[in-house]
Amino acid sequence: MKLFKVMTVLAALGSMTLSVAGRAADPVDLGKREYQDNCAVCHGALGKGDGPYAGVVNRPMGDLTRLASSHGGVFPVSRVYGALDGTRMSRGHGTTDMPIWGTIYKIRAAQNLVDIPSYDPDAFVRARILALIDYLFQLQEK
Ligand code: HEC
Repeated sequence: MKLFKVMTVLAALGSMTLSVAGRAADPVDLGKREYQDNCAVCHGALGKGDGPYAGVVNRPMGDLTRLASSHGGVFPVSRVYGALDGTRMSRGHGTTDMPIWGTIYKIRAAQNLVDIPSYDPDAFVRARILALIDYLFQLQEK
């Protein structure tokens, strides 16, 4: 239920962005934008693990398009959430191989929203992680 509410807020934020941009025909996919800006460099444009940094990081990226198929056909939402906010410290995440996005987004929230008296950094982080999860879900191989 909580997840549903957050997704509704996300949808609302998405349409706000749209009306500001005035481009109703070109909906903004926040998750896709965040993925392309922050993740594709390692995980590859389509999640296959073939980004330009793949050779630099000393750990295999895995294939993000197979998250569902390698978990019995069910997209593992909480596993992915934990990987992104840093609460699921898997081997790679205990080191610097995979950045801890929860912390990075929290810093960005502070930088971007510091002038807004009631800003909620946790909501900023959650919105981005959920948008990324939605985009990763779209990337799953059929
Ligand atoms: C610096 C390179 C790098 C960047 C940038 C990066 N990752 Fe990763 N990611 C990794 C590595 C390496 C692993 C494997 C970690 C391990 O072995 O435990 C990983 C693991 C993951 C996993 C866990 C997969 C599983 O099997 O549970 C997910 C999900 C993921 N990344 C998503 C993302 C998303 C979304 C972004 C952008 C916000 C991102 N990554 C940015 C390097 C990166």
